Amino acid sequence: MADATPMSVREVRYLGDPVLREVCREVEAVDEEIRSLVDDLIETMYEQDGIGLAAPQIGIPLRVFVYDVRDEDVEPGVLVNPRIVDATGTQREVEGCLSIPGLEEVVERMDRVVIEGLDRDGAPVRLEAEGLLSRCLQHENDHLDGVLFIDRVSPLKRRMLLKKWSKTEGSRR
Ligand code: NI
Repeated sequence: MADATPMSVREVRYLGDPVLREVCREVEAVDEEIRSLVDDLIETMYEQDGIGLAAPQIGIPLRVFVYDVRDEDVEPGVLVNPRIVDATGTQREVEGCLSIPGLEEVVERMDRVVIEGLDRDGAPVRLEAEGLLSRCLQHENDHLDGVLFIDRVSPLKRRMLLKKWSKTEGSRR
């Protein structure tokens, strides 16, 4: 394994960092650089005990995310250039984000989604998901458009969340 680039845990970007609000660029080729990015996302996701992590959350505005909802029936994975091609129903559950630690709120999402993209080798993948995996894929996909879960709650709840966030700001910096 001497030739392999070592995986590394990267710094997670927090709310307020402009990279989280970027519309990320499509990946042109799934090459070694992208595979290395995927490895770092996976390493960082597990280190942070998250169930998903998108490239902009480690400062890279590319359309890539990883996920692992810790369900033995659901394979963890990666999606490059993902696209939600079908969505039905709604679900409402509490959601959080590694980029906004300490904040949680009920978010309405589509219940079932079909999502297409590329895997770590650049091969096409098509996933059908419901429940938590579906929620996770929608949350991570939002990150690639600069959208955070706090954008998907009512203005009143968002104000309360942002107030709480600003109160704890000192402890993060
Ligand atoms: Ni997130």
